[in-house]
Amino acid sequence: MKQRIGSIVLAIIFLICSIGLVLAESKGNARKGKYLFRKHCRACHSEGAAGDRVGKPLSPLTKTQADWKKVFDGYKDLECKDAWEKLSEKDLLDIFTYLHDHAYDSPSPAKCS
Ligand code: HEC
Repeated sequence: MKQRIGSIVLAIIFLICSIGLVLAESKGNARKGKYLFRKHCRACHSEGAAGDRVGKPLSPLTKTQADWKKVFDGYKDLECKDAWEKLSEKDLLDIFTYLHDHAYDSPSPAKCS
């Protein structure tokens, strides 16, 4: 009887872990997003960057989570949409995850940009 309860508990733990993994997979990778953001967006979106036209630095902290959602839903209206279109859907999802998960009003705001 004791053994049986033990295996049921194990099975439940296993199930919870698998669900967690599936949920994590459907989101982007924030660490990779940070790297991609620096590589593909920083050149224009930082103060004093070469060829800087934007002038104000962009970081996760410059917007709220809701604003980042709006930006990514409507990026085709942005002046820099050409830069976005060079990236794959997966890369954009990673960048979104980084910006969104560390936004100004997120549970874990970015500490530095
Ligand atoms: C070739 C230079 C360039 C690159 C690369 C670039 N942008 Fe932009 N971006 C601009 C310019 C110019 C504007 C329009 C000026 C403005 O609105 O501040 C702009 C506007 C924006 C805006 C709207 C303005 C704001 O502050 O809300 C967002 C958001 C943005 N870019 C995000 C990104 C992200 C994310 C990336 C990387 C995937 C990126 N940009 C890559 C030049 C660039």
